[in-house]
Amino acid sequence: MIFTPRLVIATAAVFAVVAFVGLLFTFERPGAIVSQTGYRGVAMEQNYNPRMLVAQQARNQPPEAIEKVDPDGQKASEVYQNVQVLGDLTEVEFLRTMTAITAWVSPEGGCAYCHAEGEELSSDKLYTKVVARRMLQMTREVNTTWKSHVADTGVTCWTCHRGLPVPEEIWFEDPGRRSASKGLIGDPAGQNAAAPAVGLSSLPNDPFTAFLVGGKDAPIRNISQTALPTDRNTSSVKQAEWTYGLMIHMSEGLGVNCTYCHNSRAFASWEQSPPQRVTAWHGIRMVQALNAGFLDPLRPTYPASRLGPTGDAPKANCATCHQGAYKPLYGAPLAKDHPELTVPNPQGQGPQPFRSSASR
Ligand code: HEC
Ligand code: HEC
Ligand code: HEC
Ligand code: HEC
Repeated sequence: MIFTPRLVIATAAVFAVVAFVGLLFTFERPGAIVSQTGYRGVAMEQNYNPRMLVAQQARNQPPEAIEKVDPDGQKASEVYQNVQVLGDLTEVEFLRTMTAITAWVSPEGGCAYCHAEGEELSSDKLYTKVVARRMLQMTREVNTTWKSHVADTGVTCWTCHRGLPVPEEIWFEDPGRRSASKGLIGDPAGQNAAAPAVGLSSLPNDPFTAFLVGGKDAPIRNISQTALPTDRNTSSVKQAEWTYGLMIHMSEGLGVNCTYCHNSRAFASWEQSPPQRVTAWHGIRMVQALNAGFLDPLRPTYPASRLGPTGDAPKANCATCHQGAYKPLYGAPLAKDHPELTVPNPQGQGPQPFRSSASR
């Protein structure tokens, strides 16, 4: 082949056009909407993509209201045989709650999703009913002891389930890739594998087991307070990477930028953080308590097909409720129409005490 100047110029021109067109595709479509939330010059702003907001809005619609009923009548505990949680409701109120949870959790399966056909309604034959009873207690726990996070907005089954028996956003312990080099170069913790849990970054693929099950006391930190490392677990590189992994999940789960909760010139500083960071801090503790005290202990109740690769039960993270919105359903006050879900759990119906993974 002869490289005439003409050919060289033509080839260069083709490359330039291809590179230019290629570059065009790297821009976000359409342009982001930027809203400033802090002082000028400190990059306190939120970037929203209108295209993604449309998808987010579609996911975050409140359910249809369930008609109120006349509260008079006999107590459910007197009318029915096996009512352990909702006994103080009257019979009609109780049936209203059954109608509601059917609409929120199993609109397709109907009552039969939890009540085996041909059995008494009092039978606990189906695991789904046993799980649902615990879910009632968990929802009450959220609405009464975690007002520091959910305020009076509160949650119902819909907040997580949205008409599906298995919420869209759940997680399991992730054993990571099998790697021949494990042991030789240490535990990669699923790094370099572009995990969806951490926004397709190459951070450790499971920050949830490290930080969201409770009882672990693993500080979510990467800025050490001492000149030299004092404790391998709190100032290791992996600790920092898990922290970033969790932060990316929190951003994605809420559909916000880091600056929704931080001033990026000083991530650790609480004085300079927006108040939302405090709400998020309580949210982390709440999720730890729900996973350790309610969801993980359901392990023996589920059929094997519902368990994760290491045999753990399905658990919640920020996205389970938020589903991409800064407040689940943009703050629609779901709990107020269902006061039966804002009753403190009596002794023995609250969270189970935390037990480490090995002893579960
Ligand atoms: C998502 C699961 C779920 C669905 C769907 C469901 N239930 Fe229930 N049902 C329960 C649970 C849990 C209890 C026990 C509540 C308790 O212990 O306080 C219960 C108890 C009952 C009882 C009391 C039975 C007794 O004698 O102890 C009746 C009646 C009942 N449900 C009717 C219905 C009807 C009618 C529907 C459909 C409109 C329905 N349920 C849908 C979970 C469900
Ligand atoms: C904080 C989020 C959250 C809330 C609130 C919540 N759930 Fe759940 N629920 C879960 C998770 C996570 C699972 C595990 C999913 C699975 O079974 O794989 C689950 C599972 C279930 C299942 C078992 C489904 C199956 O097929 O395995 C039932 C039934 C259920 N929930 C009913 C309810 C009811 C009724 C309420 C309201 C009283 C409720 N949930 C509130 C998160 C939630
Ligand atoms: C929804 C609020 C929220 C969002 C969004 C968020 N963070 Fe955080 N961040 C927190 C909270 C709360 C803590 C403290 C956690 C704790 O102490 O349990 C924290 C801690 C941190 C720390 C540790 C600081 C220290 O003390 O060592 C870093 C670093 C950090 N975040 C970076 C980020 C980055 C980067 C992003 C974006 C990818 C981000 N955060 C998004 C709430 C948020
Ligand atoms: C059980 C459901 C649930 C879970 C799980 C959950 N949240 Fe929330 N969150 C809510 C509700 C409900 C609100 C609205 C409270 C209100 O109206 O003030 C909220 C509000 C917030 C806010 C305040 C937003 C604002 O603009 O004021 C932040 C920040 C937040 N959540 C962060 C988190 C983080 C981070 C996680 C995971 C560690 C998390 N949430 C997990 C239910 C949940």
